[in-house]
Amino acid sequence: MPAIEAVSIRTILDSRGNPTVEVDLRAAGHVGRAAAPSGASTGTHEVPAFPKGGVEEAIRIFRSDVTPRVMGRETGDQAGLDRLLHEIDGTPNFSRIGGNVAVAVSLANAKAAAAAGGKPLFRYLGGPGSKQLPRPFGNVIGGGRHAIGGTAIQEYLVVSQGPSAARNVFANARAHRLVAQALTAKLPGEPLGRGDEGAWVAKLSDEDALGIVADACRAVESEVGFPVRPAMDLAASEFFRGGKYHYRDRALTTDGQIEFLERLVSDYGVCSLEDPLDQEDFEGFARLTEALGSRCTVIGDDLFVTNVDRLRRGIEARAGNAILIKPNQIGTLSDARAAVDLAHKAGYATVVSHRSGETTDETIAHLAVAFGSLGIKTGTVGGERTAKLNELIRIEEQLHGGT
Ligand code: PGA
Ligand code: ZN
Repeated sequence: MPAIEAVSIRTILDSRGNPTVEVDLRAAGHVGRAAAPSGASTGTHEVPAFPKGGVEEAIRIFRSDVTPRVMGRETGDQAGLDRLLHEIDGTPNFSRIGGNVAVAVSLANAKAAAAAGGKPLFRYLGGPGSKQLPRPFGNVIGGGRHAIGGTAIQEYLVVSQGPSAARNVFANARAHRLVAQALTAKLPGEPLGRGDEGAWVAKLSDEDALGIVADACRAVESEVGFPVRPAMDLAASEFFRGGKYHYRDRALTTDGQIEFLERLVSDYGVCSLEDPLDQEDFEGFARLTEALGSRCTVIGDDLFVTNVDRLRRGIEARAGNAILIKPNQIGTLSDARAAVDLAHKAGYATVVSHRSGETTDETIAHLAVAFGSLGIKTGTVGGERTAKLNELIRIEEQLHGGT
């Protein structure tokens, strides 16, 4: 495997207009490039994206501390590089160099190694066995921290479960369009905006939003002839205060929240619930999984933060049956992969995910295929979202000759 010949960093724009970092890493004349995203509804236990001094401080530390230590390393030694990044950082959670510098270096290294070996990243990381395409989870109505004036629940998604990734991507986009038509019919004269992830924002009750998404799913299903189901990312920690879940018109206790979600799953055929309860409530997650886990995916995002220790605790408690995988939530490719491996070993599903503040970097499409993940959550439309979805279509073409 070739050695690292050069490594550099730049500040680039993310989809919210904030600065983030992009790393170029060269080996055998091939450049691996990776950019890091940022969240808005970040979990309390995830690694900080940037050090206290922000992006400028991250870049300064990259140049003074990271560059000299990584130059000349073998790109094939991903685990060694990722250990070194922890060592350079010297804190338990990348709070000195920031998760975004760590993840950009880590992924750029894998991409350079793949390119130098003449392989696409999904093949380099996943080996010849990586053939399964993930289902796209597409956000169609948004609220919470991603949209001012929207629903309390952060994301209403559609999950198309057709015979190919390409058909699923287009079925999700069709649902996104039908949802817009339903919203303009329901709220005539009201402007219709889009949130951070390209999902529609509307002043609606949470159950009305779900009803509209479920209707759109049924309509698309009858057009395409394969299952299209509604899903939700509640990001419930964002509206959990004083022991209650605060909706527009009422507040629910934990028992009330579990009963409410049981009814929504039964009435609307919801196939996946992400962060349905507060990020500290392993016990509540376990009760909810016991009640709904056979009918629906129960995903921990803020609960697990792509962290093997928190996932281990969840597995022991039987909290959830799936984990969201966000590489910058934990800081390196090896750490993200360890969470995936532990999850799969314990029978948990994995869904690789974008962040609400994204770039056009397409790497997560490759990771979802390499990991053999059930899903990829990366929006439905919008440049930084379609970058990943279109890459998935290209990967499918490489694997199966397209559709
Ligand atoms: P974030 O939200 O990127 O703003 O953290 C995405 C999610 O909660 O899944
Ligand atoms: Zn989430």
